[in-house]
Amino acid sequence: MTENWIEAAAQDDVPEQGTLQVRCASELICLYKIGVTLYATQDECTHGSASLSEGFIVEDGLIECPLHQGSFDIKTGKAVSVPCKDDIRVFPVKTENGKIFVKISD
Ligand code: FES
Repeated sequence: MTENWIEAAAQDDVPEQGTLQVRCASELICLYKIGVTLYATQDECTHGSASLSEGFIVEDGLIECPLHQGSFDIKTGKAVSVPCKDDIRVFPVKTENGKIFVKISD
């Protein structure tokens, strides 16, 4: 297994309390900015094919899916409300010189 830090976006590309869909290698990723902290998860909801980047960040650091309103913990990827049962993947994030990098494992 190899791990690579892949440049995903500029820090300013992710809106405050918002999301941004990016492609890193073969992965569709959803980036989040909550306060000054950035997070990254897989973009596809595990319940269906909805894009979490089109969802809504709700209180307590949850992302609510736009299709059936299930939700996940952005920090851990844990599915926390129905109809979502399977967790989403989370990815390490770092910033350098105003750019966001996401660590992807093969
Ligand atoms: Fe996300 Fe159904 S597709 S909750």
